[in-house]
This record gives sequence, structure tokens and C-alpha cells, in this order.
Amino acid sequence: MRIAVGADHAGYGLKQLLSDHLRTLGHAVSDLGTDSETPVDYPEFGAAVGRAVVAGAAELGLCVCGTGIGIAMAANKVPGVRAAVVHDVTTARLARAHNHANVVCLGGRILGEQVAKDALDTFLSTAPEGGRHDRRVAELAGLEEAATAAGARP
Ligand code: RB5
Repeated sequence: MRIAVGADHAGYGLKQLLSDHLRTLGHAVSDLGTDSETPVDYPEFGAAVGRAVVAGAAELGLCVCGTGIGIAMAANKVPGVRAAVVHDVTTARLARAHNHANVVCLGGRILGEQVAKDALDTFLSTAPEGGRHDRRVAELAGLEEAATAAGARP
């Protein structure tokens, strides 16, 4: 699978660790930065991952900041992104199965390495469920379309 990854300085270490993990599993990692622990602002990196997923350059995205929250907010500003902050295997499984999340966001200052790896593995191996979940995800897309249309008005 092609996976776009991005992080700010607070997520840099976990991003590097998880990128190595993904490559070991045979995934193609597109690293969109940041490249060090020098302070940067998370919106740029969340948006870059979101754009890569929506453009089809990657099937899924991985974002890491201190909490996972700010970078998820940034990714979610890109239409078509469903970014979810995930804390463990249960939230990872449900984010994918029920919410059809296409970007997983983790907190580098929150999660231990093994918990983060397990959550990421679960996210990648869980299939989106259909039925009522398809309907709800379609409703999310409808909200996004309505907001875009409203924003386009003069
Ligand atoms: C950076 O200090 C921190 O605020 C950021 O990584 C993130 O946790 C924001 O949501």
C-alpha cells in the first residue's frame, strides 16, 4: 500500500519509527516531512498528507503531532479527508470500519511505541464496513459539499 506520512516536530520521532515499521511490512512510504525536531507548525504537514490521499498519490495517510489533534484538524480541512485521532487498537479499528477514515492521526507525546504500532497495524488491516456506515459516511460527504457550496457564494 502507498502511505503518505507527515508530522510536526513533536511527532517527528514517532513518524520515523512508524515509517521504518511500514517499510519493513512492505508498504511504500511517501514522507512529506518534517525532517527534524526543529519546531514547525503542524497545519502544513497535515494538509500535505490530506492532499496526497485525496489526489490518489497514497491510499491512506498517517499524521503525527504531539497529541494527534492539531494535525488531524489540518488534514480534515482538505475536502475528501476523513482524519481520525486514534489512541489504541479499538479506536483504530472503529475509525476504519465505521468512519472509513483515510488518515490516521497519532499523538507522539501520548502513545508508547508499541501501542502506536499496534494501532497503525490495526488501522491498515481493517476494512471499511458497508450498510449503515456507508450511509453515514455519505452524509459526511454531503455536509462537506454543502459547506463548499456555501463558501463559494459571494
Ligand atoms: C506542538 O508543541 C504541539 O502543540 C503539537 O504537536 C500538537 O500537539 C497540536 O495539536
